[in-house]
Amino acid sequence: MLHAQVWLRLGRGVRDRRAPARHPTLATIARDGRPQARTVVLRTVDAAGGTLDIHTDIRSAKVAELHAAPFAALHVWDRGAHLQLRLEADATILTGAEVADHWARVPQAARVAYGGSPAPGMPVGDALAYDKTPDPACFAVVRLQVQAMDVLHLGRDHRRARFVRADGWAGTWRAP
Ligand SMILES: Cc1cc2nc3c(=O)[nH]c(=O)nc-3n(C[C@H](O)[C@H](O)[C@H](O)COP(=O)(O)O)c2cc1C
Repeated sequence: MLHAQVWLRLGRGVRDRRAPARHPTLATIARDGRPQARTVVLRTVDAAGGTLDIHTDIRSAKVAELHAAPFAALHVWDRGAHLQLRLEADATILTGAEVADHWARVPQAARVAYGGSPAPGMPVGDALAYDKTPDPACFAVVRLQVQAMDVLHLGRDHRRARFVRADGWAGTWRAP
């Protein structure tokens, strides 16, 4: 029930620009071992497979971080549902021909987020001293295979549950 609700809310994030799950926070482990977190857009949800996709520039720090340590956390606070989702996932970076179908669905105006010069995070002499030329070779899909979920429901009573892939998603209640 709660497990289904989580995937329902995540799916809504893909379809509805105003849904809270539209903009989760993606956390990774940086090369120096420190956590890094940033807002992303949830692009695809596969509830049956327990995977989520995010689009990014292949040259961004998060891609290098995920190559070095392919583990991520995704956080959503769904205010309307009084639901906090904390997902733990294994991450795979998909590029080139294997994401050609994703690239084909990225609207023209949105393609400027992938490509351009200099690469994301590089120093620039002035705030706007960069160009944004779309480049499909810079487009990457971060595929998150969810391994575990910590779900906190802040209703009149507080409920917390943990769902684990290795247990076939059997949930266990936890003290909140
Ligand atoms: C509302 C919002 C949505 C964003 N969506 C994405 C996204 O889908 N993919 C992405 O790579 N960066 C996205 N960003 C930018 C990231 O938060 C981040 O600044 C950028 O990806 C660089 O992160 P990195 O250096 O840790 O790789 C978004 C930022 C905001 C504020």
